[in-house]
Amino acid sequence: MARAAVLWVCLGFLAGLSVGAEDQELPVSYRGAQLLRLNLPSPSAHSLVEGLVDEGEVQLWRDREVNGTELDILVKPDALPVVQERLKNESIEYDVVIADLQEAIEQENSLVSESDLDVLMGRNGHRMEWQSYHRLQDIHHYLDFLAQTYPNLCSVQTIGSSLGGRPLKVLRIASDKPNSPAIWLDGGIHAREWISPASVTYIINQLTEYREQHGDAVQSVEWYILPVVNPDGYEHSHTGDRLWRKNRRSNGQGCLGVDLNRNFGYKWGGAGSSRRPCDEIYAGAHAFSEPETSAIQGFVKSHQAIKAYVSYHSYGQYILYPWGYASYVPPDHTDLSKVGNKMAQAMASAGGGSYRVGSSAITLYPASGGSDDWAKGSAGVKYAYTVELRDRGRYGFVLPAQYIVPTAKEAFAAARTVAEAVLALK
Ligand SMILES: *[C@@H]1O[C@H](CO)[C@@H](O)[C@H](O)[C@H]1NC(C)=O
Ligand SMILES: *[C@@H]1O[C@H](CO)[C@@H](O)[C@H](O)[C@H]1NC(C)=O
Ligand SMILES: [Zn+2]
Repeated sequence: MARAAVLWVCLGFLAGLSVGAEDQELPVSYRGAQLLRLNLPSPSAHSLVEGLVDEGEVQLWRDREVNGTELDILVKPDALPVVQERLKNESIEYDVVIADLQEAIEQENSLVSESDLDVLMGRNGHRMEWQSYHRLQDIHHYLDFLAQTYPNLCSVQTIGSSLGGRPLKVLRIASDKPNSPAIWLDGGIHAREWISPASVTYIINQLTEYREQHGDAVQSVEWYILPVVNPDGYEHSHTGDRLWRKNRRSNGQGCLGVDLNRNFGYKWGGAGSSRRPCDEIYAGAHAFSEPETSAIQGFVKSHQAIKAYVSYHSYGQYILYPWGYASYVPPDHTDLSKVGNKMAQAMASAGGGSYRVGSSAITLYPASGGSDDWAKGSAGVKYAYTVELRDRGRYGFVLPAQYIVPTAKEAFAAARTVAEAVLALK
């Protein structure tokens, strides 16, 4: 069995007891749903797709790049015939990137089983490893484990609770030097982007258990790391709907969820966000209406030492800096761009992925109410970035677990580069 063979290679000490408990179908099934990549020749083609999204026939995955010609859409099986016919009528060419999304979902996280993780728990005192995507409880337990194991280095602070009452746990990793600048990292603001918390926990692992291997810079700054900004959504993406994005706010009209990365309070409610509660980019009732974003606001504003703010997302492989709300850049954009390009170089050396660098609205698409715009525009943080991790669209959000380590190495290289940049500010 291929699965057992991989397991033996990756986790050679285990007994090969992979039983695949993860293979169960979630309440929302994507059996027969397809991911299509459209080649969009014209603005009229764009408006056809916008219409399909509004009618609920398709879900937009990676959005179009500015002036780009490609768009990824997810089509449920019952909508496929009509969508195919309408694309044909409009002479829009497309490729089928994923022929059965449910199949991809079942393959994605199938390398390590619950019983393997129990073995790890007995051996290491925690269940974290980076051959599989983990549930919230494993991640939170790992933070508590580090605080207990390295009490002089690590501490856990619960900065608030999600709407559903789950703790928002930040790991602080101390600097070896007094009066150091600090860096904020977060992941998992969008529930379905599983590679983000996986990469952020990998960074945590490197900054603690492998601390000595990574040189002065990472040891000379303080780190504040929130691996799962949206714990309610993240759990729902494991137990209800793999492709859930928002938090779980009940908005009325039978629609759930606020897009937390449209809920921050700088230029809130502008381009690239929506006032309609059913939309995937619903900005919420007002800026910081959600406990998850408002907890971050309170924490970052009360920690003036924070000089960099990096949010990890997926997918597309971009390093983005403000502004997202419109096609302008901040006065010090050459600094942001210079450090962004260094991040891209470091990421290419670390994991091999190639990342494009630029301001959000100009490089990708406008998005108001994002965390990076707020960090830069309201909290006065010098270096604010949104990093879109792998991939470029072969698997999209459903990135198989064997890509966690190479992607996470890139994410860590980006964080290390940012540490060098904030130290150079002094
Ligand atoms: C997009 O196209 C416009 C008009 O042709 C051009 O001015 C702009 O620089 C392009 N933007 C990008 C990101 O290529
Ligand atoms: C495609 O075009 C044909 C011919 O114009 C039309 O009858 C049909 O309704 C169109 N299909 C869709 C799904 O719009
Ligand atoms: Zn995202």
